[in-house]
Amino acid sequence: MVNKKAEKIKKRGKDKAKPDKAKPEKVKPDKERKIKKIKQGKKKKNILQTPTGMSDILPEDQPYFDKILRTVENFSNFYGFKKISPPILEFTELFEKGTGIDTDIVEKEMYTLRTKGGDLLSLRPEFTPSLVRAYIEHGMMNLPQPVKLFSMGPVFRHERPQAGRYRQFHQFNIEVIGSSKPIVDIEIIYFCYNILYSLGIKDALVKINSIGCRDCRLISKKYLINYLKKKQNFLCPDCKRRLKSNPLRVLDCKKETCRQIAAGAPQLLDHLCKDCHSHLKRILEFLDELKIPYILEPRLVRGLDYYTRTVFEIVAENEKSASQDALIGGGRYDDLIKLFSRKDVPACGAAGGVERIINLLKERKINVHQQGKSEVFFAQLGDSAKIRALKLLEEFRKSNFLTVHSLSKSSLAKQLLLADKLGMRYSLILGEEEAKKDSIILRDMKTGKQTLIKISNIIKEVKKRL
Ligand code: HAM
Repeated sequence: MVNKKAEKIKKRGKDKAKPDKAKPEKVKPDKERKIKKIKQGKKKKNILQTPTGMSDILPEDQPYFDKILRTVENFSNFYGFKKISPPILEFTELFEKGTGIDTDIVEKEMYTLRTKGGDLLSLRPEFTPSLVRAYIEHGMMNLPQPVKLFSMGPVFRHERPQAGRYRQFHQFNIEVIGSSKPIVDIEIIYFCYNILYSLGIKDALVKINSIGCRDCRLISKKYLINYLKKKQNFLCPDCKRRLKSNPLRVLDCKKETCRQIAAGAPQLLDHLCKDCHSHLKRILEFLDELKIPYILEPRLVRGLDYYTRTVFEIVAENEKSASQDALIGGGRYDDLIKLFSRKDVPACGAAGGVERIINLLKERKINVHQQGKSEVFFAQLGDSAKIRALKLLEEFRKSNFLTVHSLSKSSLAKQLLLADKLGMRYSLILGEEEAKKDSIILRDMKTGKQTLIKISNIIKEVKKRL
C-alpha cells in the first residue's frame, strides 16, 4: 500500500558511559510524604492475586511465548544479531536521560525504588537505554560496526491496564548500533515484518514517518509552536506544559481534543532537510522493492524522546479491535549515544510487544504448538516397574520420542483413563510380571488389542506403528 504523500516524497527527491556512576539522588521530601500517604491509605489488597496489570504466564500460554522466542532467536541468528540480557533494574537516571524526562514512560509510569544502599533504581520500562549503556560500558564501539544486539524479557510500565496494555509485559528488542545508513532501518523493518509473517500474521502494515534530525526539527518546531499556541486553551494540562518543554509530544497525546488539534498541525515532513528527506525517500523505495505494505503517517512521532529521522510502527491491518494497537514500534536514534558518551554513534532499533502478538495469535486461532504431538502413554504398575519405566522413558527421550506418563498414579485403570482422555493412540503397560520377563504390553487404544513385546524392541515396534 502506498499513499499519496509517500509518492510525493519519492518524486520530490528525484528532482534533484556508563551513566555518570549515577549518584543516588535524594527523594524530595514532598515525594517521600506522598509515598508515606499512599502506604497509610492503602486498602488491604488480596495478596492471593497478581498485582494489577500483571499476570502469571500459565502452562497453556507457554507454547505461545516459546514460539515467539524461538522465532526471534532463529531470525536473530540468521541476521547476525547477538543476544544480550541486561539486568531488569538500572539507575533511574539512565531512563530519565535516555527515554526522556518528559515522556509519559518516565514521568508517570516507572517503577522506581530506593535500595538499602541508597541507590535510586528503576525496573526497565524498555530495553533501548540498557543496550546503549551496555554498548558504551563494554567498549563495543571498538568492535567492527555496526553492532547488532537482541534481547527478550519483561518490561514494566505503570499504565492504566486495558486490553493489550499491561504493567508487566514482554518485549523482544533489536538494535543496530553504529550505522546511519537507510538500509539498516530497512533491515530492521524487514526483520520485524518477517517475524510477524512467519508467526502467521500475514496482514502486517508498516506505519512510517520521519521526524527529521535536530537541525530540521528546529524549523518544524517553530511552525508547530506557532500553531499550538493559537490552540493552547483547548489543550489538556499535560500538553499545555509540553508546549513549552517538548511540543512534539503534543502530537502523541491520546486525549481526544488534543488529537483533533494535532490532526490540523503543520507536518514535520514538510520541513525535512535535504539529508533527512533523501534518507526517508530511500527507505520508501526499499519498502516498495521488498513489497512490504506501508503507509506514510505524517502524524506519527512516537512517545520516546530519543528518536531522530525514521519512526515506525507495525500493526495488523485487518484488526478492528484493541489489537489494532502497534504490535511493534521502533525508529532511529542518532543522538542518544552522544548524550551519554559524547561519541557520535548513530543507531536504529525496534521492539515487539509479545503479549499483544499472542493476543492476536489467539484471536485468530493460529496454531503455535510444535509438530510431533505425543501419541504414546506410558503406564506402570508396582515399584520395581516404576524404576524400570523411568529408565525406559529416558531411552524414548534419547530417541526423540515424545511420551506422556504419570508415575505418581498407581491404579492402571486411572492411568488408562488419562491416556484415553488425552487421545493417545497407544499405551505401554509395564507391570512387575512384564518387567521380570523383560517385556512390555503395547495396547492399541482404539481397538483395545494388547501385544506383549520385548523391551529391547519396543521403540522400534512403536515407531513402526505410528
Ligand atoms: P514502544 O513502542 O514503547 O517502543 O514499545 C514497543 C512495543 O511494546 C509496542 O509496539 C507494543 O507492542 C508493546 N507495548 C508497549 N507498551 C505496552 C503495554 N503497556 N502493554 C503491552 N505491550 C506494550 C520501545 O519500547 C522502544 N524501546 C523500541 C525501540 C527499540 N526503538 C528503538 N529501539
